[in-house]
Amino acid sequence: MKLNDFNLIIFGANGDLSYRKIFPALYYRLKENQINANSRIIAILRDKKNIGNFKKSVESSLKEFISEYSTKVGEQIQKMIHVIHFDLNDAKTYVNLSNAISEKLEIKIFYLATPANVFGSISRKLNELNLIDKQTRIVLEKPIGHNKATSDQINKEVLENFNESQIYRIDHYLGKETVQNLMVLTFANYLFEDSWNANHIKNIQITAAEKIGVEKRGDFYNKYGALLDMVQNHLLQLLCLIAMEPPTSLSPEEVRTEKHKVLKSLKLFNEHNIKDAFVKGQYSRGSHNGTKISSYLEDINKFDSKTETFVAIRTYVDNWRWKGVPFYIRTGKRMSDKFTEIIITFKNVPHNVFLSKKPIVPNKLIIRLQPKEKIEFIQMIKVPGPGGYRYKPVKMELDYQESVNERFPEAYERLLMDVVRGNQTLFMSYNELCAAWEWIESIIESYKKSSGEISFYSAGTDGPGDLVMIDNDEWDKH
Ligand code: BG6
Repeated sequence: MKLNDFNLIIFGANGDLSYRKIFPALYYRLKENQINANSRIIAILRDKKNIGNFKKSVESSLKEFISEYSTKVGEQIQKMIHVIHFDLNDAKTYVNLSNAISEKLEIKIFYLATPANVFGSISRKLNELNLIDKQTRIVLEKPIGHNKATSDQINKEVLENFNESQIYRIDHYLGKETVQNLMVLTFANYLFEDSWNANHIKNIQITAAEKIGVEKRGDFYNKYGALLDMVQNHLLQLLCLIAMEPPTSLSPEEVRTEKHKVLKSLKLFNEHNIKDAFVKGQYSRGSHNGTKISSYLEDINKFDSKTETFVAIRTYVDNWRWKGVPFYIRTGKRMSDKFTEIIITFKNVPHNVFLSKKPIVPNKLIIRLQPKEKIEFIQMIKVPGPGGYRYKPVKMELDYQESVNERFPEAYERLLMDVVRGNQTLFMSYNELCAAWEWIESIIESYKKSSGEISFYSAGTDGPGDLVMIDNDEWDKH
């Protein structure tokens, strides 16, 4: 379905995110005929000297990130782009913005792909320039602040100019097809409902492993670390989708309220309970397939950094459904492989009726979110042949990609189109953000008090091995 035409105004248009994600997403939606070439993409550049070659840079990045680039669609995108010079500190440039926005197109989307410390001042300026009306939306990229106080401050400043219903806080994990499939898996398959609770589930593991290091983002990453870069947003959102109660409908209010309830139920840490429940790691030199990999400290060229590139956390959702079920969250850079996966381990059978001494392996549901999206169900089967009941665990596998046989749109394609539609379901509410910060801050504060030490792991491995807390069961021995 074609959507209404819009003005999309991108602050930070010549940043990495715009080149890698936003422009390719627009390209694909245009190619799929979902957006109309009458829409306007207004690229804001703070530095006048970048204007001349900007469109060329967009073209080369599209060629780099799009597998079957079509010159026709590329040219259409180029025509939609209006490059302007705008600088908050230079009043002479303000008129450029008002002139570039087409009044004929009702919807105005301000996309702030900039550091969060200017979200407040940009919002204020947009208000002063009378550019905010009922059909205006603002998109905020993470991280919004580096702790609860700064996040509150930034949100407050934006909220002085926009209503909450106009604010779209992006978490690109929510735009991933396989992440949205979590809702379908749990709410469209009744089979799971009765077992989706502490009576039947032993533990839940959520892992996001990355092979890459900090790339060119060293300065940025060093201020945040894995806890704020990945856990505070992406991994908590995955936890919410697994643990939330069925919403009454998919309206933004209902879905976000249920996720908020999960975040509020997360057990807060203190200096005692954090001791065996939180591990911080940093990669040291290592190798991958024979290629040497430098250490984090070498990558950022700062040799006293204590920033973590790996964390493992055991937490609990203290509510009726999940009381006592450990949720393990792990993420790290420079691991041996790239994958994002959720493993749900069920409780074992209460009694082994077979004579065999071989243990029965508990059922597991393994949801591989990326890459090679698939769902596996580990179950026991009888080994054929005489000689009594011999059994072993096997995988029942559903290949998500093969079963649908369609291109998976990139997360940003879905999210950008939801902003145009005015649908906030897949965006974080302010309440969710506050609850997530509260839990994260309990980790940071308790860890400081517990005088925990960072552990090192060699790049290209799976983190500080002996410290990974998951209570591995019989499956691993097979
Ligand atoms: C980003 C983080 O939000 O997510 C990056 O800032 C991380 O550090 C990236 O690499 C991971 O995203 P994906 O989609 O590759 O899992």
